[in-house]
Amino acid sequence: MKYPAKEHALRVKNHFLAKKESVKKDATAFFIASAKYTNYPYCDQVAPLRQNRYFHYLSGIDQIAGAFVLFNVFNDKLTLFLPNIDEDDIMWSGMPLSPEDALKDYDFDEVLYAKDVAKTLKSLKSTNFDIYTTDTDEYAETAFAKLVIANDASFFYALDESRLIKDEYEISLMRHAAKITDNCHMAVMSALPIETNETHLHAEFVYHSLRQGSKFLSYDPICCSGPSCGTLHYIKNDDEMDGKTSVLIDAGAEWKCYASDVTRCFPITGKFSKEHLDVYETVRDMQAQAMKKIKPGVEWEDLHLLTHRVLIKHFLELGLFQNGTEEEIFDSKVSAWFYPHGLGHMLGMDTHDVGGHANYEDENIMLRYLRIRRKLEAGMVVTNEPGVYFSPFLLEHISKEQEKFVNKELVEKYMYVGGVRIEDDILVTPDGHENLTGITSDPYEIEKIVQKGLSKGKGGFHVIV
Ligand code: GLY
Ligand code: MN
Ligand code: MN
Repeated sequence: MKYPAKEHALRVKNHFLAKKESVKKDATAFFIASAKYTNYPYCDQVAPLRQNRYFHYLSGIDQIAGAFVLFNVFNDKLTLFLPNIDEDDIMWSGMPLSPEDALKDYDFDEVLYAKDVAKTLKSLKSTNFDIYTTDTDEYAETAFAKLVIANDASFFYALDESRLIKDEYEISLMRHAAKITDNCHMAVMSALPIETNETHLHAEFVYHSLRQGSKFLSYDPICCSGPSCGTLHYIKNDDEMDGKTSVLIDAGAEWKCYASDVTRCFPITGKFSKEHLDVYETVRDMQAQAMKKIKPGVEWEDLHLLTHRVLIKHFLELGLFQNGTEEEIFDSKVSAWFYPHGLGHMLGMDTHDVGGHANYEDENIMLRYLRIRRKLEAGMVVTNEPGVYFSPFLLEHISKEQEKFVNKELVEKYMYVGGVRIEDDILVTPDGHENLTGITSDPYEIEKIVQKGLSKGKGGFHVIV
């Protein structure tokens, strides 16, 4: 089966026609450029190409630069413009994709070359077409840049609402990305004898991801140990692990431009310490309570706030919070200094995918970093990723009014853990949800996996997936 680019274009068309006022139904087109190769500054070496996700959504094409896609809303014709052939480049880069192969392998009605763009767009303009695009960044210097309408809010809305709901084909790609990622996390957990520095966690994940055919990760992996587990997007990944207790690894493989995003935590010794397990069980319960409620129609904000309540309940039981009821502590918002981010985000071609409607200006600190501010719908893929952190930087923000609720002496005893986050990728289904992540988050199973790896000793034990 081909990547359903035409189906995607029709979705965008429907959203656009429903949204845009006084639209010309018989004279509208969408036009998007692929990403372009760029050299590193002052260097003749080309940077890796990251395909423009909007171009990819309407084409299914990944590693090709200098291409364009055009969709005619009147007759539903989808046209690809391949990059012009540069004879001199063939000896360096090999043969380019031919129009015949593009028609065979992809979902286009017509395949032309980039040199045909100007006359095609001019011909549409001559019949009074409005040609919408996201931006003209890749071709601003061309004459045809003047023929398109860039930055139209309704066009972005239509693209994002379409990308938000994944079809079966996209879900199959995301399932595969998640499967690769499961295997990588399994490999990292199992390989402690050869992991003595955070860089080794990183290396193990990348090695197993690449072996499975995933050439790019969805984002820079976050490989932390000890107190650095409290830094949310830690990418230094180069500290020694010796003498520490906890590991947090947040990493995901990409598959054909679709992301996965999974976090697992484990004990370096193979046995959770009391404090590490206390935090782990708190986060696991936060995730489980939210998970039970994931289904269409649910307001994501409600699930996020529910996880704050679960955190508060556990912290009261552990004695980390004190001098107040669950309600008083919730109202004080002090839990935000231990759980500063949102419960999750949309996942798709981007790790923090489009359509979530975050409000980073929100005055409510508990909601400011929540990347989904809307009801769940079937076909969305979201992450469920609560976390609890013991970060000196965050705890400094506890106000005079909030500090009576915090048992500072006891909090000190948890600082070495750094933090715990458990993150799974969840497809919202018509009846509820499906967890695309398969790697266990059960702390006792995790202990067994780590211990089994440790028992093999330093003799080069390696999980081959
Ligand atoms: N890996 C980044 C995030 O979980 O959002
Ligand atoms: Mn995430
Ligand atoms: Mn993550």
